[in-house]
Amino acid sequence: MDTNGSSTDSGTPHPPTGIKVIVVGAGFGGLGAAIECHRQGHNVEIYEAFPELKTLGDIISFGPNGGRIFYRWSNGEIAHRMRLLSIDLRKYGFNIHKYDTGEIVINQPTPEYSVEAPNFNGHRGELHEVVFNYAKDLGIPSEWLNILFGTPVVFHLGNRISSCFEDDNESGIVLESGAKVSADVVIAADGVRSKARKTVLGYEDKPKSSGYAVWRAWFPNEDMLADPLTAQFCNNGDTFNGWIGPDMHFLFSTIKNGSDCCWVLTHPDEHDIDESWSFPGKLSEVKEAIKDWDPMCTRIVSKTPEDVLVDWKLVYRDPLPTWVSPKARILLVGDSAHPFLPTSAQGATQALEDGVCIAVCLRRGGKKNVPASVRAHERIRYDRVRATQKTGESTRDMWHKTDWAKVKENPEIIQFPRQDWIFEFDAEKNAEEMYDEIVKEISKL
Ligand SMILES: Cc1cc2nc3c(=O)[nH]c(=O)nc-3n(C[C@H](O)[C@H](O)[C@H](O)COP(=O)(O)OP(=O)(O)OC[C@H]3O[C@@H](n4cnc5c(N)ncnc54)[C@H](O)[C@@H]3O)c2cc1C
Ligand SMILES: *[C@@H]1O[C@H](CO)[C@@H](O)[C@H](O)[C@H]1NC(C)=O
Ligand SMILES: *[C@@H]1O[C@H](CO)[C@@H](O)[C@H](O)[C@H]1NC(C)=O
Repeated sequence: MDTNGSSTDSGTPHPPTGIKVIVVGAGFGGLGAAIECHRQGHNVEIYEAFPELKTLGDIISFGPNGGRIFYRWSNGEIAHRMRLLSIDLRKYGFNIHKYDTGEIVINQPTPEYSVEAPNFNGHRGELHEVVFNYAKDLGIPSEWLNILFGTPVVFHLGNRISSCFEDDNESGIVLESGAKVSADVVIAADGVRSKARKTVLGYEDKPKSSGYAVWRAWFPNEDMLADPLTAQFCNNGDTFNGWIGPDMHFLFSTIKNGSDCCWVLTHPDEHDIDESWSFPGKLSEVKEAIKDWDPMCTRIVSKTPEDVLVDWKLVYRDPLPTWVSPKARILLVGDSAHPFLPTSAQGATQALEDGVCIAVCLRRGGKKNVPASVRAHERIRYDRVRATQKTGESTRDMWHKTDWAKVKENPEIIQFPRQDWIFEFDAEKNAEEMYDEIVKEISKL
């Protein structure tokens, strides 16, 4: 094992720090933080509301900056497993259509697959299961394994927290049962409806409607194959097509060698907000919304079983002024700190980057300097996360306000943006490089 912080080994490349970390939530944000804290030598316990894992959700994306993190787990094994579940567009690329005529204005090629920094688009539940099982494997309590690989990650499923607390020396959680558990630091990855957020901010932060909602569906390919006009999307490997129109866009992909189908249709919506994933949708409403669009869109939608259709209200939150509690022993990460619009395709990846960064900062600061490390984390991350969040709005607006005459002259302007500053970023290396300087800055405040 090497000690430069970039080991790909599943064990901890660092000696134990003695820092006790409570992670709230076992989504990608929480699992990532737990795994990374384990890698950096901390003792980790996860508290998660769900009593057992279910494969929930539909399509989710990870950029290469997320793939780089997964690749370090278990010598590339986790990334490999995720790859097998993810869309493979090396042959097909991304066909971008004009919404009404259906013409393909450009085929955006897929970049070469990078083993060390892969990107993944696949079923959220299936990919989550891979990561969940890996984190669980790190939790097998066995004395000789502990000696070799560090203290195991301990899981407490079926444990919903109701609040957090802190003083100068420790922080902790209060479970719904009333039980209290304390630690050196609480990393709250409890999603958009975070309970920890209130302790951190001192007030309830209400979400607002973003003005959009997304109809989403994931279903098997049988009916698609049975129709000669739609079979092309499923009988020759994976595909990805997008129809871009005024104030709406429809993205359709086939995954796992064309066997699964998935579409998302972003549309204006001013309804009251329910931050829920399981809001049922109506096919008739979807068809009404796209009645003037390329008939292929309706054809694809018609193959969707109504019971898998979800109408997900896209909420927006003003950026939180801080992710850190007053005594800096509670930190919000992932969606609890910064929900993303799907058009950024970076929400889950930024949640992962958070976990990497805080794990490094805690190790660098040591058990005596937890608050300084938590504050350093926020300073290292804040501007990057904000800038990445904004790409969700800019890409959406770019698509929804397309000037088709300009696209005719230069079709490349409608491509999904791929930004090096997002993708080529190594969260672990960055945290290691910035830590000392940032801590110095903070100590001068
Ligand atoms: C069921 C579900 C389905 C999703 N489906 C998709 C999808 O299809 N596509 C997509 O792009 N994104 C989806 N997301 C969101 C996506 O996973 C996140 O945007 C991203 O991965 C960042 O993750 P996170 O860990 O910060 O938050 P989340 O993924 O929301 O994870 C938060 C976790 O915290 C747990 N939790 C919440 N409150 C408490 C509490 N009080 N006590 C203990 N535990 C608590 C939740 O059960 C959950 O496991 C889904 C999220 C969920 C929870
Ligand atoms: C924190 O620890 C110090 C030193 O052990 C002690 O003096 C102080 O009272 C503690 N503070 C709280 C709030 O428990
Ligand atoms: C993918 O599916 C096609 C048929 O749709 C089949 O011919 C091919 O062998 C499959 N490839 C793999 C790798 O499973």
